[in-house]
Amino acid sequence: MKRSLTCIIALFVFCQFVVLNAHSQITQSAPGVKKISVGIADKFTPYSFCSELPVNGALSELPAGKLPFDINDIKVNVNNRGVIVEIPLDDTEQLYGFGMQIGSFNQRGLKKRPVVNDNPLNDLGYTHGPTTFYVSNKGYGILINTSRYTTFYCGNTEKNNKNISEAKDTNGGNSVEELYSNNTRASGHVIADIPGAKGIEVFVFEGADLKTAMQRYNLFSGGGALPAIWGLGVKYRVKADFNQYQVDKMAAYFRDNHIPCDVLGLEPRWQTASYSCSYVWNKSFFPTPDKFIDSMKNKGFHLNLWEHAFVSPKSPLYQPLQSKAGNYLVWNGLVPDFADTAASNIFANYHQQTFVNEGISGFKMDECDNSNIAFGSGAWSFPELSQFPSGIDGEQMHQLFGLLYQKTIYGIYKKLNRRTYLDVRASNAFASSYPAALYSDTYLHDEYIRMILNSGFAGMIWSPEVRESNSVKDFMRRSQTAVLSAQTLYNSWYLQNPPWLQINKEKNNKGELMDNAKEVEADIRKLLNFRMSLIPYLYNAFADYHFKGIPPFRALVMDYPQDKNTFNLSDEYMIGNDILAAPLTEKMDERKVYLPEGTWYDYNTNQKYDGGKYYTIKPSFTQLPIFIKAGTILPLAKPVEFVAPDTKFEITCYVYGNATKTTLFEDDGVTFNYENGAYNTINLLWNKNKGEVKRNGKFKSYRYIVKRWQVID
Ligand code: GAL
Repeated sequence: MKRSLTCIIALFVFCQFVVLNAHSQITQSAPGVKKISVGIADKFTPYSFCSELPVNGALSELPAGKLPFDINDIKVNVNNRGVIVEIPLDDTEQLYGFGMQIGSFNQRGLKKRPVVNDNPLNDLGYTHGPTTFYVSNKGYGILINTSRYTTFYCGNTEKNNKNISEAKDTNGGNSVEELYSNNTRASGHVIADIPGAKGIEVFVFEGADLKTAMQRYNLFSGGGALPAIWGLGVKYRVKADFNQYQVDKMAAYFRDNHIPCDVLGLEPRWQTASYSCSYVWNKSFFPTPDKFIDSMKNKGFHLNLWEHAFVSPKSPLYQPLQSKAGNYLVWNGLVPDFADTAASNIFANYHQQTFVNEGISGFKMDECDNSNIAFGSGAWSFPELSQFPSGIDGEQMHQLFGLLYQKTIYGIYKKLNRRTYLDVRASNAFASSYPAALYSDTYLHDEYIRMILNSGFAGMIWSPEVRESNSVKDFMRRSQTAVLSAQTLYNSWYLQNPPWLQINKEKNNKGELMDNAKEVEADIRKLLNFRMSLIPYLYNAFADYHFKGIPPFRALVMDYPQDKNTFNLSDEYMIGNDILAAPLTEKMDERKVYLPEGTWYDYNTNQKYDGGKYYTIKPSFTQLPIFIKAGTILPLAKPVEFVAPDTKFEITCYVYGNATKTTLFEDDGVTFNYENGAYNTINLLWNKNKGEVKRNGKFKSYRYIVKRWQVID
């Protein structure tokens, strides 16, 4: 009797803590997207905050996917420690993702713990965008829907479930090489370890290939972001302590010198208190904010305001948010409980009334990550043990804070039917629809390039900002990367003068400009003009992101998943469908470029290259390192200095190698009216040496005027 009672108790305990796969439920969440649910799911998951609906129409148009394993072979265990998910992995698979990883690209064989942080210590997974999501070159994606700190073992663990006759003796030799060549390439599984969870949801995205798996993820998240068209121009952030008069002067500098600029960003001192924030104009520096905003608007500038979400005791938001904040402060400011809609609404309404209604076009949502070792100072942010009134804990709040902050601010613009392009320093899963570019205080150029590629596996937008430099060469190469990225941003928050006039921080701030300042300025003008020429093409790439889920910037392996040479290629990427970029960094005078199958043209020389091979290129500082795919009609606009509501882009179509058709997306560029069909698809057709423009759609006032056709080959 006693024994059977013990058995019953043991069974009860077992059932409580070990939910085996038998108890899992598999449901269809959307076309090609399945969800495995096991145990008691957490309340505060990334998906629980996704307010966008899956784009079911586009999802069902994607080719049907097939997993390379049986979905029932994904095993989920819930035990005293938390949840363990095992996903099959074959020997040849390559894995990408885990958010905005800074130090690694192909994640196969690595241990990754995507945790939100501003400093990627030892490349263990610290990142500004800690998504618990990866994709395989076998054409599927896996998302563990959790905001708990999760560790992934990407095919680098071996289980002790073999009997001795099966066990491999790897210690077979006597040489030093043999001693350390433990080459049992562990396979079998990706393992996700989620301590503290009592259950889990796992989303499985089916794809016909890597790209369609990524498209499914983005479409399931509501489709990719379509930033306001002016956001694709140039953004310049002024020195943190500039006053109204100094910003005015900087604006005049851009226009007088014909250097393109669409957005000016104000840094901390526009407010009465910044660390933490008051969200109140500092009238000693900006005596007439309304007039200032208007005069900037009249000169064609959009204004973006720096802030973070930690609310100063000096802020009018302090009192209303006091009972809706965490139990720890940051820089003496409240941490709003953004998991509670009431708290986000208070924050949003204040921002709408005080800034957005007055004409502020966007915000830089800073420091919503976390820091163990900040640059120059100590650790900051709220501790993981924090508690919030909604019930979310500090760990989960950290992982979600940037996501919820974006949702709060973006919601204002969406409600007002005004588009924007924001900056943010942390994000998470299901953020594809947010037009917010991530940035970092880190400053290694090769890492910045790698993150352009990794953003494509994360449903995020990455902005490799330019600040000071060691050499003009470094500065020009960084500027080239910025021009060939989702946001062209000069972040001069500690520079008195534009960095092209003086690359050295100290001299810049003393007003000692370089002897060749005007030459460098002229070179930068050329690069930025190219950026302006590219806007219609880029805008179309973003429309493809929005409507089809195709990341506008992505690794070559996404377009060429069968080509082994692309598996670890982390310094070349596709922009849209037809441009391949291969940026150079400071130490390079030349670089090797791999061109995948097909024929390619060097944009600068029009030289033709056969794909499937490596070449060496030596572009100058003003030659952008890009290749155009044969069969492309590349529409380039005559550069404008900024994009006004009535800007018409005059376009030249460059025809490369047997091209027949390309498309452009045309709408007002600033409202969400495209969601109700107010847009055109323009087909640019090339047939028998003649170009033709065919517009389909309901948008009446044309933005694009095709002026010329030019055959390259
Ligand atoms: C940092 C941010 C910088 C700049 C600075 C101003 O956190 O990353 O870009 O805005 O704050 O204090």
